[in-house]
Amino acid sequence: MRPYAQMVSVGAYVPEKTLSNRDLERMVDTTDEWITKRTGIQTRHIAAEDEATSDLAYHAAKQAMERAGVGPEAIDLVIVASISGDYLFMPSTACVLAHRLGIKGVGALDVLAACSGFIYALSSAKAYIESGMARCVLIVGAEALSRFVDYTDRGTCILFGDGAGAAVIRASESPENRVVDVKIGADGEFQDFLITPGGGSRHPAHGALDKAHCQFMQMRGNETFKVAVKTLTQDVQTILARNGVSASEIKHFVPHQANYRIIKAVGDALGLSEEQVVMTVAKYGNTSAASIPMALNDLYEAGRLKKGDRLLLDAFGGGLTWGSALLDFAGD
Ligand code: COA
Repeated sequence: MRPYAQMVSVGAYVPEKTLSNRDLERMVDTTDEWITKRTGIQTRHIAAEDEATSDLAYHAAKQAMERAGVGPEAIDLVIVASISGDYLFMPSTACVLAHRLGIKGVGALDVLAACSGFIYALSSAKAYIESGMARCVLIVGAEALSRFVDYTDRGTCILFGDGAGAAVIRASESPENRVVDVKIGADGEFQDFLITPGGGSRHPAHGALDKAHCQFMQMRGNETFKVAVKTLTQDVQTILARNGVSASEIKHFVPHQANYRIIKAVGDALGLSEEQVVMTVAKYGNTSAASIPMALNDLYEAGRLKKGDRLLLDAFGGGLTWGSALLDFAGD
């Protein structure tokens, strides 16, 4: 009989420094009122100068491992989802993180799926465990996005924040409290909706990068917004339908935290109550791959995430990529 995958713990970390809407008013032509009304964001955390993405990931991962009661020797695969890795493109952030955690000699890989990264990592962890190729996988979403934000572009700099979240996914012979289903998708047709154009092989770093600001993230916000609402709604409806689960059976809907209006539109389309929808965007902004595990950790630390709780996760981001997951939490 094949093993099942369980999410047995979560953890998270946010850097100390914050950047409020009022701070941004002094940097670009914007207002606290505009940002709050259009996005729901009030503040975000910013990594210290000496903190890279793997440093944020380390604290989140350590907490998740402690809560799962597993040491470095138990982990047999490390997956880090990030679009703001320590290095471009080598070594991977997963290698740096595994070394710091004392995890030796097992696979470590990065996943590049922007804001959908955590769901992509979860889908890989589930597949590795169910195929018997791994027994205990550490998955992390971690971002130091502030390093790639253009703080002269009011269309993007108000949105993003830094942070990390992690989970331990473990094999179980019992089908109880398992990761029931994960669904991922992508469409490169809209690759320019969210893009960091410079530094790769198309526009190498030795080109005129600074002039064009092309080492920073760029976004076609309004178009992205519309595709996000439509895609996310269809995606969650599909994963619920194919598992015969109704929206009312979901204890916590934990979507990627990009904009409260997107979250509300999807929640309304599913007929979810306010109580079911988890919203952390006000205090963290958009932390891309880190946002879902950070939100899970918030729930956990508030005493609201209990063993057996049915979770629906849902994300959308650059690529374009998207994904959703249905699981029953297996942590204590
Ligand atoms: N402060 C004040 N005005 C701003 C502004 C800011 N920070 N940013 C943009 N504006 C202005 C625009 O210049 C525009 O002005 P104009 O009408 O004079 O041309 C007006 O506000 C409307 O801009 P628009 O981009 O259409 O606003 P919007 O309602 O779409 O909100 C976002 C902008 C970015 C908040 C929204 O599009 C969004 O959240 N998009 C998706 C984000 C997302 O999901 N990202 C990826 C998934 S992770």
